[in-house]
Amino acid sequence: MIVSDTAEPLTVIQPPLVRIAREIDVLFEQLLVVPDDHSSRLIEAMRYAAVGGGKRLRPLLVCASSALFGVPRDMSLRAGLAVECVHVHSLIHDDLPCMDDDDLRRGKATVHRAFDEATAVLAGDSLLAMAFEILAHPTTHPSGEVRAQLICDLSRAAGAYGMAGGQMLDLAPASDAGADMDAVARLQRLKTGAIINWAVEAGATLGLASNDERTSLRGYAQNLGLAFQIADDILDAIGDEALVGKRVGKDVEQGKENFVTLLGVDRARRQAEMLAEQAIEHLRPFERESELLAAIARFAVDRDH
Ligand code: IPE
Ligand code: IPE
Ligand code: MG
Ligand code: MG
Ligand code: MG
Repeated sequence: MIVSDTAEPLTVIQPPLVRIAREIDVLFEQLLVVPDDHSSRLIEAMRYAAVGGGKRLRPLLVCASSALFGVPRDMSLRAGLAVECVHVHSLIHDDLPCMDDDDLRRGKATVHRAFDEATAVLAGDSLLAMAFEILAHPTTHPSGEVRAQLICDLSRAAGAYGMAGGQMLDLAPASDAGADMDAVARLQRLKTGAIINWAVEAGATLGLASNDERTSLRGYAQNLGLAFQIADDILDAIGDEALVGKRVGKDVEQGKENFVTLLGVDRARRQAEMLAEQAIEHLRPFERESELLAAIARFAVDRDH
């Protein structure tokens, strides 16, 4: 185990991961019924990307933070579904030839390979749009104000000041991005951190948390997001393709700067472990109620996929 604690991370996190994967799949199956008309190919591509794959870590974060405030599961699941839609959208577009040009994702051909590029662009667009439709629906939360806040925050997290902005920096040649730790941390906070932050804070928004509670969760999320992306970069450097489910060794090949290229695998791993510890520190005010969030932080840095 990398991060020291009494509980073995996989034992704590495995049942919730299995449960959330099943729940998210059921919701995607309900939403993405293939029609017998002109849009069938698009919906099929959305299903192909969304159903039955991925760790579902962002929905799990929404549900785990929501549980701190007694938010009903069906409500937190809808917010989790929304953030998974944004995430899958980002993966489809990230894999396109004009971005990372990948042909393997979640253990199968990427959407543009299995379908075609135009379908992949539109499937990604449609999943992004679907996220906001899900959040806007009254079954997500009875308060229109809460729904508007979720939508507003997720728009920002997904766009130019969040994920898309980070992706833009990630595409810049290394010399433009500036190969120092601060620049890499800034890039990763945007590209991966913004959506993870939203997932954690969604629980606070749905549960009408106090400012202090929100601040603690924000501290957790910021450290977690960085730790999670460092682990992703380590997997790219030394992971097993069959387990990771995507091509490895691409970051060096494409000249990407990240914590592993700057620090090497061992120091990057120590950095990720330290960030996970710091994330867990922020959970102190929630005591034992936050056990699952703590287990997620450990899993984020101690994973093989
Ligand atoms: C991969 O995210 C892309 C990043 C933002 C690092 P995940 O590792 O959560 O991918 P899935 O959802 O499990 O496939
Ligand atoms: C992509 O980061 C982050 C997203 C916003 C999708 P990466 O390019 O490192 O993700 P992987 O390694 O392809 O999953
Ligand atoms: Mg990328
Ligand atoms: Mg990529
Ligand atoms: Mg990567």
